[in-house]
Amino acid sequence: MTVYRRVAQLKTVEDFRAHLAALGIDIPIDEKLYHGPDAPLAQPYDVDGMRIGNRFAILPMEGWDGTRDGRPSDLTRRRWRHFGGSAAKLIWGGEAVAVRPDGRANPHQLLLNDDTLADLAELRESLIAEHRQRYGRSDDLLVGLQLTHSGRFARPNDKGRPEPIILYHHPLLDRKFGVPADLPVLSDNDVSQLVDDFVQAAKRSHKAGFAFVDIKHCHGYLGHEFLSAVDRPGRYGGSFDNRTRFLREIVAGIRAEAPRLRIAVRVSAADWLPFRAGTDGRGEPEVWSTARYPYAFGGDDTGLGIDLTEPRAFLDLLESLGIRLVCISAGSPYYNPHLQRPALFPPSDGYLPPEDPLAGVARQLALAADLKRHRPSLAIVGSGYSYLQEWLPHVAQAVVRSGGADFVGLGRLVLSYPEMPADLLAGRPLDRKRLCRTFSECTTAPRNGLVSGCYPLDPFYKELPESRMLTRIKNQTAPSDR
Ligand SMILES: Cc1cc2nc3c(=O)[nH]c(=O)nc-3n(C[C@H](O)[C@H](O)[C@H](O)COP(=O)(O)O)c2cc1C
Ligand code: SF4
Repeated sequence: MTVYRRVAQLKTVEDFRAHLAALGIDIPIDEKLYHGPDAPLAQPYDVDGMRIGNRFAILPMEGWDGTRDGRPSDLTRRRWRHFGGSAAKLIWGGEAVAVRPDGRANPHQLLLNDDTLADLAELRESLIAEHRQRYGRSDDLLVGLQLTHSGRFARPNDKGRPEPIILYHHPLLDRKFGVPADLPVLSDNDVSQLVDDFVQAAKRSHKAGFAFVDIKHCHGYLGHEFLSAVDRPGRYGGSFDNRTRFLREIVAGIRAEAPRLRIAVRVSAADWLPFRAGTDGRGEPEVWSTARYPYAFGGDDTGLGIDLTEPRAFLDLLESLGIRLVCISAGSPYYNPHLQRPALFPPSDGYLPPEDPLAGVARQLALAADLKRHRPSLAIVGSGYSYLQEWLPHVAQAVVRSGGADFVGLGRLVLSYPEMPADLLAGRPLDRKRLCRTFSECTTAPRNGLVSGCYPLDPFYKELPESRMLTRIKNQTAPSDR
């Protein structure tokens, strides 16, 4: 079994560089960190007539902890207050919020309708109030809302019962996730209705005070599935033009009905074949016997390589639609999580890393850098930094300084250590005990029907009864199939 050297064992920037060189991995890293108003990560960024006060973005992260009717709970409010208290000046969407009931990924996902609008407005206000109280101002804080339909991964009524809504039958994903062969695909008329649901949700987001909406196109959910619907007949499949019609129609609807609302897109800019645990527990690609794998948006024909021809065209399209805010992610947490959230320890339904997780980080950094070079006028947010741990600040500064991305998106790290950006910007030493070590319990918990959170490092979650349930679940799962 391959054992990957732990990042925490690398004591100096030189060690880190030598380790990367030995692995043949290219990740930019600065030796010296700067803080104070002139620091690269403290620089403001002007976009769409708004000033964003620094270069940290909080990535969307749901907690499977809303109420049954789609409102935030105390746990949701706590997480959003932490986002506000982090010092990051761009809040990319908060978390995925379903535009209609059948689009919820779990029965506790937030839902945006007329009944929940006021609750979501309050959620946003509490984040802003926390930020203002700690940092004295919020005029340079941009808070958006991520709008989604979970499509193939919808479980709206019972967390144990998938109720997939699909655009096409995917031979591998259908088998992997038990989609019946006779399940009807969403019709073109159904898609038109869905476009309207997104537009209505965007209008409500605007009413609730959000500065932008992210029309989610990542991680295997419905927006992302449009991009790979290469053999779907009709208006929404086949050509690139047809596969992006859904987005173009939503944008046209929002421009007509909420013209002052900014629009953003988070996209999985590269995808691969689905992976599974091999006999030794390590991830390996599902067997695909046909010559060409056509379903990976941003992937090449092998299903295990990257071809950015279409993602670059997608960014051209975004720019032509007047969209300036773009967040780059990769893959899906359901079928190739090592691409999406590089981790040393897999979640209970995952597999042992098939590569050093630093390779996953490098892949995401390279994706964002390539797309930033392609469309320099777009504000690009990168993802997948948490595995860098002690070296995250050094890499983040190097990336922003060298123009590899405009914003450093933070995911899991913010669950374990929300004040990290604040500490870094102020030049305080990092609290190493709170650095996310990618134990994946924030993913294992919801996969087993529990609320998500950082159980190993956040004392609040450690004390919850769910923590003991999670320990039992982990003990029952043999390491080889975790
Ligand atoms: C618990 C959890 C919930 C997440 N929820 C969302 C979500 O609602 N929307 C989304 O676009 N990404 C979601 N993600 C993915 C993160 O935004 C991010 O892309 C990923 O964790 C990689 O970044 P990191 O290395 O900083 O963690 C989630 C990730 C985690 C761990
Ligand atoms: S549970 Fe905590 S330490 Fe583990 S991956 Fe999630 S945030 Fe990181």
